[in-house]
Amino acid sequence: MPQHETEEPNAAELRDKMVLNLREQGVLTNEIENAMRAVPREVFAPGIPLAEVYDPVDAVVTKRDEHGMATSSVSAPWLQAVMLKQARIGSGMRVLEIGSGGYNAALMKELVGPDGEVTTVDIDPFVTTRARRFLTQGGYGNVNVVTGDGALGARQHMPEQGWDAIVITAGAWDVSPGLVSQLAPEGRLVVPLRINGFTRSIALKWEDGHLVSESLEECGFVPMTGLDQHDKRLFLLHGEEIGLSFDEHDVPDPARLTGALESERTVEWTGVTIAPTDSFGTLQMQLAATQPGFAILSVDEQADTTMVLPLNRRATPAVVRDRSFAYLTKRRAGDIVEFGVIGHGPDAKDLVGNLVTTVTEWDSTYQHRTLHVRVFAKETPDEQLPPGEPVLDKRHSRLTFFWT
Ligand SMILES: C[S@@+](CC[C@H](N)C(=O)[O-])C[C@H]1O[C@@H](n2cnc3c(N)ncnc32)[C@H](O)[C@@H]1O
Repeated sequence: MPQHETEEPNAAELRDKMVLNLREQGVLTNEIENAMRAVPREVFAPGIPLAEVYDPVDAVVTKRDEHGMATSSVSAPWLQAVMLKQARIGSGMRVLEIGSGGYNAALMKELVGPDGEVTTVDIDPFVTTRARRFLTQGGYGNVNVVTGDGALGARQHMPEQGWDAIVITAGAWDVSPGLVSQLAPEGRLVVPLRINGFTRSIALKWEDGHLVSESLEECGFVPMTGLDQHDKRLFLLHGEEIGLSFDEHDVPDPARLTGALESERTVEWTGVTIAPTDSFGTLQMQLAATQPGFAILSVDEQADTTMVLPLNRRATPAVVRDRSFAYLTKRRAGDIVEFGVIGHGPDAKDLVGNLVTTVTEWDSTYQHRTLHVRVFAKETPDEQLPPGEPVLDKRHSRLTFFWT
């Protein structure tokens, strides 16, 4: 019996389960659900166990670098659904995907239908060769697959008025002007953008000559390489176990922190509590968007250390000033978690006090609000930026932030 006859029912069952799970999560529109039911995800991840292929929450890694870090994947189904929804892709549209795998482009093709067109660009010929092959096998040979740097878009396939939707599926540090210039007046640009190290998938649309966000979702992605690659700077606070990473331009000289961790610890509790399962993504964003000297504290998963007690070992908001730093911590009391702040160094008391105030403000004002991002061209002078909105300068753009 040919292999597909034994596997097909299983794949179909798993696809159905995946779709039901995503529907329960509330991330599907009817159109995206139909697309996910139509596209055989296993075609885009050959040789991978079907249960992994159809896991609704995890990506399928398809390529790693020499350090074992993922450089390409078929993204997690929930995230694909979220971003397709953010992009508002509809019938007849002409859409551009940056970062190919084939599966997401096939979903897009289902969404745009026979009158629409999909172009997908990847910088890695290994990825585009596979994507082209899988798309043809899956019945989506009419998707344009381009090998190139996505920061430049794909002018050769662009409609005259620009793309109706551009979806970037690699972690970007900046908003490429090459892509902004290719976005149609009514289009959406969806970009997983790093804001001081925290990534949010942001759907942007035009408003008064600049871009403004329509939605913002938590996510993670393999970083973009090529023209717009931007690497974090890591400063090791203690051996190889504890690090502070800096992701923006105005990095304080981290070498000044040598020995800071060994100095006395200042601790202050905020009185701000949440349930252990509550999200504090808005707090991460509030700090990342507004705090000078922002950094992310991380601790090696294997390390058995109590020298730092971060909120979360993978990524905890921190601030650095000269020879001092402070970061968020937590303590558990029954069913609730209280935020605290720990600092080290000569300015620890001051830094800790500032962070406590910010956490308290978040609790009283921002916790349940929505953060919006505006993207202005780099040459926009200060006086043309919205007054009172914090500014984050990138290489090609100027971001400002506001809450509603
Ligand atoms: C998460 S994968 C894309 C997943 C894909 N959209 C899918 O169907 O699930 C990210 C891809 O972005 C690509 N990439 C990274 N930098 C890029 C760039 N500057 N231009 C185009 N592609 C890039 C990587 O090679 C990788 O294949």
